[in-house]
Amino acid sequence: MRKSMNRRFFMGGTAAASLGTLAIGATDPRPAGDRRPVAVSSGNGLRAVEKAVELVKKGFDPLDAAIEGVAIVEADPKDDSVGYGGLPNEDGVVELDAAVMHGPTHGGGSVASIRNIMHPAAVARLVMKRTRHCLIVGEGALRFARAHGFPEVDLLTEESRKVWLHWKETRDPNDDWVPPPDDEVAAYLDGYIKRRVTGTIHCSVLDTHGDLGCTTTTSGLSWKIPGRVGDSPILGAGLYLDNTVGSAGSTGIGEANLLNLSSYLVVENMRRGLAPKDAVMEALKRIAETSVRDPKRRRPDGKTTFNVSFYAVSKDGKFAGGCIYPGGKMAVHDGDSARVVQLDPLYDK
Ligand code: GLY
Repeated sequence: MRKSMNRRFFMGGTAAASLGTLAIGATDPRPAGDRRPVAVSSGNGLRAVEKAVELVKKGFDPLDAAIEGVAIVEADPKDDSVGYGGLPNEDGVVELDAAVMHGPTHGGGSVASIRNIMHPAAVARLVMKRTRHCLIVGEGALRFARAHGFPEVDLLTEESRKVWLHWKETRDPNDDWVPPPDDEVAAYLDGYIKRRVTGTIHCSVLDTHGDLGCTTTTSGLSWKIPGRVGDSPILGAGLYLDNTVGSAGSTGIGEANLLNLSSYLVVENMRRGLAPKDAVMEALKRIAETSVRDPKRRRPDGKTTFNVSFYAVSKDGKFAGGCIYPGGKMAVHDGDSARVVQLDPLYDK
């Protein structure tokens, strides 16, 4: 056996999960094409789009490039909405959701409520490639990841444990959890807790051949009911693509996307000729319209109680993002440079 094949046999198909390498399962690159690549991501995805475009320029598959891009954020303890360091459920346990879609094969895979695995997007790719299924959840997803050699890690960092404990100790003055009287970090933690984390990372990539790949990966809503699954691992909700049309994904309160299959809607809007910006705005309008029929999703002014953001790229390389309320951001790489831009909001406030 040649030395390189030997190394590939032992490393290539498994999940060594050492970042900075392609050891979490990328396939060999093909010669790069001559089209301008594009990558779009949520505001926390600047490093993801940089990595993804670097890889597709070398001929890597667009889904592999997207997964390697988001893996940087999955492993970053400072991002409290994704992977390692993600804020936990109400029991203090980090549960992750992730999905992938691959344009050339129209394949998709996902995992939900998976614990102890830093790179759920790479596990989702294996669900797509190495099973006949699309979605594996909970204990089964962990066992599947173990079977493929993913290392198990405690995803709860000291910082996220302290934030969770502060939430737990301050949420109800009538329960038996009591915060320390001299908690110096209380003000900081209060601010943190008021901003309930709904973050996530999505990344859609158009490669140099005009092929698409996308992934969405998240620790979900902070303090969620254990076992709650959001939109991120649901194909059509938290992400969707059609290699002949475009790719889209979302961050924010996932229930709105589950109730409207919104990423599918964005791609279908592009299929019927809308530019990415209009495709996204139409989906936001749909969410705004349907969600407020439920009083628990309706503010007194008749608008939604939550925010949702979309990121989209069309087959011909146009891209856009949008959100319900101002403040959302998107990372984009247009083939020349990467930057973070403001999302277009549906409402001014
Ligand atoms: N969009 C992420 C979630 O709701 O879990």
